[in-house]
Amino acid sequence: MNTLLSSVLLALFASAAIAVPVNERDDGPPFSVTCSGISFNPDNNSITADCLHIGTGSTTSTIGLNSCVGNENGAFLAHCGPLCTNFSTSCSSISVIGTILSGICTTTTGTQFPSIDLNSVLSNENGILTC
Ligand SMILES: *[C@@H]1O[C@H](CO)[C@@H](O)[C@H](O)[C@H]1NC(C)=O
Ligand SMILES: *[C@@H]1O[C@H](CO)[C@@H](O)[C@H](O)[C@H]1NC(C)=O
Repeated sequence: MNTLLSSVLLALFASAAIAVPVNERDDGPPFSVTCSGISFNPDNNSITADCLHIGTGSTTSTIGLNSCVGNENGAFLAHCGPLCTNFSTSCSSISVIGTILSGICTTTTGTQFPSIDLNSVLSNENGILTC
């Protein structure tokens, strides 16, 4: 990475750390902007990340995706309704690459390959991952 790009990125992150509210899902930046070290644990389908909070520093936070995302007939949905099933039990090959959750889900009509950007699901509420 060249020096100019690093300075621009550094300035971007510095201003994100200082000026951007970290507690408003709808108005605030995507969680991937204010959280770093985002990792997925396939054993319990959880996301762990270091999330900035008001003031300086960050908190390591973990959230289980089963309570945040459901499988509705082969589609991953946040804030899922009564037609949703637990994607842990109804989908396989679940992975997170970057912030994209993907899996293979069987439905009444066949096999689907849904994905959802976790930035539309999770938010950083003052250092705590929520959905
Ligand atoms: C998932 O498992 C990890 C490692 O065992 C644990 O630290 C974390 O608390 C678990 N998360 C949830 C949401 O259950
Ligand atoms: C989904 O299924 C997993 C695996 O059986 C279970 O651990 C988890 O509690 C379930 N979550 C919900 C929200 O039903």
